[in-house]
Amino acid sequence: MSEILNGKVALVTGGSSGIGRATAVAFGREGAKVVVASRRIPEGEETVDMIRAAGGDALFVRTDVTHASEVEAMVGQTVETYGRLDFAFNNAGTTPPMAFTADCPEELWDHIINTNLKGIWLSMKHELPQMLKQGAGVIVNNSSVAGLVGFPGRAAYAASKHAIIGLTKTAALEYARAGIRVNVVCPGWIRTPMLDSGLRQNPQFEAQILKMQPNGRIGTPEEVAGAVIWLCSDTASFVTGHTLVMDGGLLAQ
Ligand SMILES: NC(=O)c1ccc[n+]([C@@H]2O[C@H](COP(=O)([O-])OP(=O)(O)OC[C@H]3O[C@@H](n4cnc5c(N)ncnc54)[C@H](O)[C@@H]3O)[C@@H](O)[C@H]2O)c1
Repeated sequence: MSEILNGKVALVTGGSSGIGRATAVAFGREGAKVVVASRRIPEGEETVDMIRAAGGDALFVRTDVTHASEVEAMVGQTVETYGRLDFAFNNAGTTPPMAFTADCPEELWDHIINTNLKGIWLSMKHELPQMLKQGAGVIVNNSSVAGLVGFPGRAAYAASKHAIIGLTKTAALEYARAGIRVNVVCPGWIRTPMLDSGLRQNPQFEAQILKMQPNGRIGTPEEVAGAVIWLCSDTASFVTGHTLVMDGGLLAQ
């Protein structure tokens, strides 16, 4: 362990898989106590086991981020167990099947907005009061490159991810003088179960992605985790309200 976050307490939503799991493991490796929050119990417990096997301290709290009472309990259990909340990576999210804007069913629209956007707002609503009490804290929200450019066939996803950036900037301004930093990461194509399910539905998709990628490859969850750890560390103490893109150069074109 390099332990740059030694003794701190980190919360990761959607920590049972992909980017969330890699970030929870990275927090543990850097010496933070980690709360893994997610809907899926066996996978969430598996992330906790990975952190403990590497010598870290972690706890799983079953949470659906669309339910206000569960999000409140998630933060409550974090503070009850570890006494504080230093870092929150609000990452839980989902992606809809492809459908043009006019063909997106209303229930699907509500589901995506509730999970990706309301879930982050609810998480911040309960994380911020604890950080205010402490006079310090760092929040990192997970958006996407689809938060910066249009994404044909995924209107609800792109709308939710654009809104996360506005939400992040607003909270960063509101809480800057209270010692709380709020930033947002925008990953490009990252190899996770979410992307793999898209690749299974369309076998040509991976070749299309690779053709678009200036650096010729898909990113790893660990590459996103590294950026989140940096944003939480004191090395980033002057960084707030920032949108950090990690996409292998995709949006630079
Ligand atoms: N993989 C990519 O290419 C990519 C790119 C940009 C942004 N992202 C974003 O990264 C985040 C993580 O995605 P991933 O690729 O690791 O996918 P993933 O499917 O591996 O992980 C998603 C996680 O979110 C959790 N989750 C979903 N709905 C939830 C809910 N209602 N309550 C609690 N947890 C819930 C899942 O259980 C899982 O742990 C998402 O917000 C996604 O939009 C992914």
